[in-house]
Amino acid sequence: MGGAPFPAGRPRRLRRTPALRRLVAETRLHPAELVLPVFVREGADTPVPVGAMPGVVQHSLESLVEEGRRCRDAGLGGIMVFGVPSAKDGRGSGADDPDGILNVALSRLVEAVGDDLVVMSDLCLDEFTDHGHCGVLADDGSVDNDATLDRYAAMALAQAATGTPMLGLSGMMDGQVGHVRAALDAAGYTDTAILAYAAKYTSGLYGPFREAVNSSLVGDRATYQQDPANGREALREIALDVEEGADVVMVKPAGPHLDVVAAAAAVSPVPVAAYQISGEYAQVVAAAERGWIDRDRAMTESLLSIRRAGASIVLTYCALEAAARL
Ligand code: PBG
Repeated sequence: MGGAPFPAGRPRRLRRTPALRRLVAETRLHPAELVLPVFVREGADTPVPVGAMPGVVQHSLESLVEEGRRCRDAGLGGIMVFGVPSAKDGRGSGADDPDGILNVALSRLVEAVGDDLVVMSDLCLDEFTDHGHCGVLADDGSVDNDATLDRYAAMALAQAATGTPMLGLSGMMDGQVGHVRAALDAAGYTDTAILAYAAKYTSGLYGPFREAVNSSLVGDRATYQQDPANGREALREIALDVEEGADVVMVKPAGPHLDVVAAAAAVSPVPVAAYQISGEYAQVVAAAERGWIDRDRAMTESLLSIRRAGASIVLTYCALEAAARL
């Protein structure tokens, strides 16, 4: 008897009631930091479901604008638009065509919701090339870095002309941020921001996305996207992109690379975003459909962990359903 009661520290005290847990929660989700990635399909009259992503569709222009309004009304931070063109070629001509599906969709969204929601573009050639790579090919079949930069610059000018305030550079070519920044500035688009997919890993979790954009890719993107074995390289990519003028840097995929999100958050002078990708979404949805896990809890936990790791912006296919719960 006597002496200090054992144990001295009782962390469970603060977990006893919902009110206590709420009081001491370090991380909270808010709709304003969530961004919904969306697909828009050229020629579609009605939305086309994406098989590997239940709940996700390829939008028609009309349904896309309605989705934009839902995002705005839910108080989301933004909407990220990917185009699904009806025709492709070697250089991805549809990407910088002002009448191409992505540019038309961006114009329509900016007009409808641009004052209250940050409209973001995907700036990459993969949806528009018949070989499915993120750039143009050299004669030997490899992805030609420097020739691709000129295509990205043309794409950037076409997207900036739609009034899109933030361009998402996802191609992982060296020098893409600096090249696009210079092209935008020279054309007077000094206020158009760049969200750089700075640390984008080659991933086995992109499969459902490739269905969503009707990708033509055979093989992989390992010569330009990062090797999941490497963390240090991500910090170099981030430093280069910041130096070249990135306004936001992103880590992708998010869940498998939370250490990189945390490392980026510790050093980046600009906001850090993370992209919870198609395969991360599909894993949760598929397991929940089998009754193996609880969809809402698993989604909330995954989003919280991305925020806790240090991302201030989260791209996720469940942005609207998450916002509805908050
Ligand atoms: C390529 C791009 C990809 C995604 C976004 N932009 C796929 C890829 O690199 O193959 C994937 C997003 C997702 O899986 O949700 N421009």
